[in-house]
Amino acid sequence: MDTAMAYRLLCGVVAPRPIAWITSIDAAGVVNAAPFSSYNYVAHSPPMLAVNIGSRNGDLKDTARNITQTGEFVVNVATEANMELMHQTSAEFAPDVSEVQALDIALLPSSQVRPPRIAVSPVQMECRLHQRVPLGRLNTLYIGEVVAFHLADDVFDGKHVDTARLRPIARLGGPYYAALGEIFLRPILQTPPVSDTATPGPLP
Ligand SMILES: Cc1cc2nc3c(=O)[nH]c(=O)nc-3n(C[C@H](O)[C@H](O)[C@H](O)COP(=O)(O)O)c2cc1C
Repeated sequence: MDTAMAYRLLCGVVAPRPIAWITSIDAAGVVNAAPFSSYNYVAHSPPMLAVNIGSRNGDLKDTARNITQTGEFVVNVATEANMELMHQTSAEFAPDVSEVQALDIALLPSSQVRPPRIAVSPVQMECRLHQRVPLGRLNTLYIGEVVAFHLADDVFDGKHVDTARLRPIARLGGPYYAALGEIFLRPILQTPPVSDTATPGPLP
């Protein structure tokens, strides 16, 4: 199948996709930020996230190069409140230009890794590269172990994440994003993956 058609089909059909707004750092200390929606969690013991980064004209994107070189990155959650800024960071800045400086993005230091966190994001996950898996001709999957979670008090009560308050945004096909719509409650029918006294989370 034609590559452009395959891309259009996948992006339109595998939707909505969560967005990892990734901060990484190069050898000279330049901080990079860019969004990636070919992304999900893939393990919970230990917790792991995976993001697929495509090549750009045969070269690694800055985020891919930085993760490969340093083995570290931070996934900041994209929300309705930070969507505009997040979207701006997808522009193709030259490798030696920091999106963070160019767009004046406020940062916070991380506790376990060198790349900093994005202050305007209410949830940030510090990651160490676990595995780098080349896939086909154009893509590489970066699997990171989450070595620290940071959650703002208004979206986490110490036990549950209030996803409705988090207001995460998602990517659809083409230039479209989506916000949370109606939230449906159904009893959980399967055995939970880990023992939990199963107090329900907050209602939407
Ligand atoms: C919402 C959104 C999601 C994106 N998802 C991906 C993705 O999953 N994989 C990818 O390679 N590029 C993705 N991109 C494109 C990158 O963000 C873009 O190529 C960016 O310039 C990469 O920056 P970097 O070179 O600083 O790493 C996405 C762009 C947007 C706006």
